[in-house]
Amino acid sequence: MSQHTLPDLPYAYDALEPYISRQIMELHHKKHHQTYVTALNAAEANYAKASSPKERIALQAALRFNGGGHINHSLFWKNLAGSAAEGKGNGGQLKPGPLKDAIDEAFGSLDNLKKGFNASTAAIQGSGWGWLGLNPQTKRLEITTTANQDPLLTHAPIIGVDIWEHAFYLQYLNVKVDYLNAIWNVINFDEAETRYKEAISGSKL
Ligand SMILES: [Fe+2]
Repeated sequence: MSQHTLPDLPYAYDALEPYISRQIMELHHKKHHQTYVTALNAAEANYAKASSPKERIALQAALRFNGGGHINHSLFWKNLAGSAAEGKGNGGQLKPGPLKDAIDEAFGSLDNLKKGFNASTAAIQGSGWGWLGLNPQTKRLEITTTANQDPLLTHAPIIGVDIWEHAFYLQYLNVKVDYLNAIWNVINFDEAETRYKEAISGSKL
Protein backbone atom coordinates (compact mmCIF):
# COMPACT_ATOMS: atom_id res chain seq x y z
CA MET A 1 0.00 0.00 0.00
CA SER A 2 1.32 3.43 -0.86
CA GLN A 3 2.13 5.68 2.04
CA HIS A 4 0.88 9.24 2.13
CA THR A 5 3.53 11.93 2.49
CA LEU A 6 3.53 15.55 3.57
CA PRO A 7 3.51 17.71 0.41
CA ASP A 8 5.98 20.60 0.24
CA LEU A 9 4.52 24.08 0.47
CA PRO A 10 4.57 25.84 -2.93
CA TYR A 11 6.16 28.92 -1.23
CA ALA A 12 8.37 29.82 1.73
CA TYR A 13 7.01 29.72 5.29
CA ASP A 14 7.13 33.53 5.50
CA ALA A 15 5.59 34.11 2.05
CA LEU A 16 2.12 34.86 3.41
CA GLU A 17 3.23 37.53 5.86
CA PRO A 18 1.97 39.86 7.16
CA TYR A 19 -1.42 38.11 6.80
CA ILE A 20 -0.37 34.68 8.07
CA SER A 21 2.80 34.55 10.13
CA ARG A 22 5.79 32.34 9.50
CA GLN A 23 5.31 30.78 12.94
CA ILE A 24 1.76 29.71 12.15
CA MET A 25 2.74 28.33 8.74
CA GLU A 26 5.66 26.31 10.11
CA LEU A 27 3.68 24.74 12.92
CA HIS A 28 0.60 24.22 10.77
CA HIS A 29 2.51 22.48 7.99
CA LYS A 30 5.32 20.64 9.83
CA LYS A 31 3.37 19.62 12.93
CA HIS A 32 -0.38 19.63 12.32
CA HIS A 33 -0.49 18.43 8.72
CA GLN A 34 2.31 15.92 9.39
CA THR A 35 0.27 14.47 12.26
CA TYR A 36 -2.71 13.84 9.97
CA VAL A 37 -0.45 12.15 7.41
CA THR A 38 1.21 9.92 10.01
CA ALA A 39 -2.10 8.95 11.59
CA LEU A 40 -3.73 8.30 8.20
CA ASN A 41 -0.92 5.94 7.24
CA ALA A 42 -1.28 4.13 10.57
CA ALA A 43 -5.06 3.85 10.19
CA GLU A 44 -4.78 2.53 6.62
CA ALA A 45 -2.16 -0.02 7.69
CA ASN A 46 -4.41 -1.21 10.52
CA TYR A 47 -7.39 -1.32 8.17
CA ALA A 48 -5.44 -3.53 5.75
CA LYS A 49 -4.63 -5.91 8.60
CA ALA A 50 -8.14 -5.91 10.09
CA SER A 51 -9.75 -9.31 9.86
CA SER A 52 -13.39 -8.57 10.70
CA PRO A 53 -16.05 -6.01 9.81
CA LYS A 54 -16.09 -4.89 13.45
CA GLU A 55 -12.37 -4.10 13.38
CA ARG A 56 -12.78 -2.21 10.11
CA ILE A 57 -15.75 -0.22 11.43
CA ALA A 58 -13.73 0.71 14.52
CA LEU A 59 -11.13 2.36 12.26
CA GLN A 60 -13.54 4.47 10.24
CA ALA A 61 -13.47 7.52 12.52
CA ALA A 62 -9.66 7.66 12.34
CA LEU A 63 -9.72 7.28 8.55
CA ARG A 64 -12.29 10.02 8.18
CA PHE A 65 -10.57 12.46 10.53
CA ASN A 66 -6.99 11.99 9.38
CA GLY A 67 -7.84 11.36 5.74
CA GLY A 68 -9.94 14.51 5.72
CA GLY A 69 -7.17 16.44 7.46
CA HIS A 70 -4.66 15.35 4.81
CA ILE A 71 -7.01 16.14 1.90
CA ASN A 72 -8.08 19.52 3.28
CA HIS A 73 -4.61 20.78 4.19
CA SER A 74 -3.11 19.63 0.86
CA LEU A 75 -5.78 21.72 -0.86
CA PHE A 76 -5.40 24.66 1.53
CA TRP A 77 -1.67 25.21 0.88
CA LYS A 78 -2.23 25.41 -2.87
CA ASN A 79 -5.17 27.68 -2.19
CA LEU A 80 -2.85 30.40 -0.83
CA ALA A 81 -0.16 32.62 -2.35
CA GLY A 82 1.95 35.60 -1.34
CA SER A 83 -0.02 38.83 -1.51
CA ALA A 84 0.02 40.79 -4.76
CA ALA A 85 -0.47 44.00 -2.75
CA GLU A 86 2.78 43.19 -0.90
CA GLY A 87 4.58 42.36 -4.17
CA LYS A 88 5.01 38.75 -3.05
CA GLY A 89 2.89 36.83 -5.56
CA ASN A 90 -0.57 36.64 -7.07
CA GLY A 91 -2.48 36.30 -3.77
CA GLY A 92 -5.70 38.26 -3.43
CA GLN A 93 -6.04 39.08 -7.12
CA LEU A 94 -9.16 37.93 -8.93
CA LYS A 95 -8.54 38.55 -12.61
CA PRO A 96 -11.25 38.82 -15.26
CA GLY A 97 -12.19 35.33 -16.44
CA PRO A 98 -14.58 32.45 -15.87
CA LEU A 99 -14.19 32.37 -12.07
CA LYS A 100 -14.83 36.09 -11.71
CA ASP A 101 -17.87 35.79 -13.99
CA ALA A 102 -19.24 32.90 -11.90
CA ILE A 103 -18.63 34.80 -8.63
CA ASP A 104 -20.39 37.87 -9.99
CA GLU A 105 -23.31 35.72 -11.16
CA ALA A 106 -23.73 33.87 -7.88
CA PHE A 107 -22.98 36.66 -5.37
CA GLY A 108 -23.12 39.94 -7.28
CA SER A 109 -19.49 40.80 -6.47
CA LEU A 110 -16.33 39.49 -4.85
CA ASP A 111 -17.02 41.69 -1.82
CA ASN A 112 -20.41 40.05 -1.35
CA LEU A 113 -18.80 36.61 -1.60
CA LYS A 114 -16.26 37.60 1.09
CA LYS A 115 -19.02 38.90 3.38
CA GLY A 116 -21.18 35.81 3.02
CA PHE A 117 -18.24 33.42 3.26
CA ASN A 118 -16.82 35.09 6.38
CA ALA A 119 -20.21 35.16 8.10
CA SER A 120 -20.89 31.45 7.42
CA THR A 121 -17.37 30.38 8.32
CA ALA A 122 -17.18 32.45 11.53
CA ALA A 123 -20.45 30.83 12.63
CA ILE A 124 -19.01 27.28 12.61
CA GLN A 125 -19.30 25.92 16.13
CA GLY A 126 -15.96 24.44 17.10
CA SER A 127 -13.48 23.51 14.39
CA GLY A 128 -14.13 23.15 10.70
CA TRP A 129 -13.69 24.54 7.22
CA GLY A 130 -15.36 27.24 5.17
CA TRP A 131 -15.80 26.52 1.47
CA LEU A 132 -16.60 28.07 -1.84
CA GLY A 133 -17.79 25.09 -3.83
CA LEU A 134 -19.38 24.29 -7.14
CA ASN A 135 -22.75 22.60 -6.81
CA PRO A 136 -22.48 19.72 -9.32
CA GLN A 137 -26.24 19.74 -10.01
CA THR A 138 -26.81 23.44 -10.61
CA LYS A 139 -23.22 24.26 -11.69
CA ARG A 140 -23.42 27.35 -9.50
CA LEU A 141 -20.98 28.51 -6.86
CA GLU A 142 -22.18 28.20 -3.28
CA ILE A 143 -20.81 28.90 0.20
CA THR A 144 -20.84 25.95 2.57
CA THR A 145 -19.02 24.59 5.62
CA THR A 146 -17.85 21.27 7.00
CA ALA A 147 -17.23 20.27 10.61
CA ASN A 148 -13.96 18.98 12.07
CA GLN A 149 -11.78 17.66 9.24
CA ASP A 150 -14.64 16.47 7.04
CA PRO A 151 -13.71 17.00 3.41
CA LEU A 152 -16.19 18.68 1.10
CA LEU A 153 -18.18 15.94 -0.64
CA THR A 154 -21.37 17.71 -1.69
CA HIS A 155 -19.60 20.25 -3.90
CA ALA A 156 -16.37 20.48 -5.88
CA PRO A 157 -14.03 22.53 -3.66
CA ILE A 158 -12.91 25.82 -5.23
CA ILE A 159 -11.61 27.66 -2.13
CA GLY A 160 -11.29 26.18 1.36
CA VAL A 161 -10.37 28.04 4.54
CA ASP A 162 -9.19 26.33 7.71
CA ILE A 163 -11.00 27.76 10.73
CA TRP A 164 -9.35 25.54 13.31
CA GLU A 165 -7.72 27.64 16.04
CA HIS A 166 -4.30 26.28 15.04
CA ALA A 167 -4.71 28.19 11.75
CA PHE A 168 -4.91 31.64 13.34
CA TYR A 169 -4.70 31.77 17.14
CA LEU A 170 -0.98 32.63 17.45
CA GLN A 171 -1.53 35.78 15.38
CA TYR A 172 -5.21 36.69 15.68
CA LEU A 173 -5.97 35.23 19.13
CA ASN A 174 -9.73 34.71 19.45
CA VAL A 175 -10.69 37.20 16.72
CA LYS A 176 -11.74 34.84 13.93
CA VAL A 177 -13.19 37.64 11.86
CA ASP A 178 -9.83 39.45 11.61
CA TYR A 179 -8.23 36.23 10.35
CA LEU A 180 -11.02 35.74 7.83
CA ASN A 181 -10.77 39.31 6.59
CA ALA A 182 -6.97 39.00 6.27
CA ILE A 183 -6.90 35.69 4.44
CA TRP A 184 -8.51 37.09 1.30
CA ASN A 185 -5.24 38.97 0.70
CA VAL A 186 -3.47 35.64 0.20
CA ILE A 187 -6.13 33.60 -1.60
CA ASN A 188 -4.72 32.19 -4.83
CA PHE A 189 -7.58 32.90 -7.22
CA ASP A 190 -5.59 31.50 -10.16
CA GLU A 191 -5.56 28.10 -8.43
CA ALA A 192 -9.25 28.54 -7.61
CA GLU A 193 -10.01 29.26 -11.25
CA THR A 194 -8.16 26.11 -12.35
CA ARG A 195 -10.32 24.08 -9.97
CA TYR A 196 -13.43 25.88 -11.13
CA LYS A 197 -12.71 25.08 -14.79
CA GLU A 198 -12.08 21.40 -13.93
CA ALA A 199 -15.26 21.24 -11.90
CA ILE A 200 -17.49 22.97 -14.44
CA SER A 201 -16.30 20.62 -17.17
CA GLY A 202 -17.39 17.75 -14.93
CA SER A 203 -13.99 16.07 -14.94
CA LYS A 204 -13.53 16.13 -11.18
CA LEU A 205 -15.65 16.53 -8.05
FE1 LIG B 1 -5.28 23.15 9.89
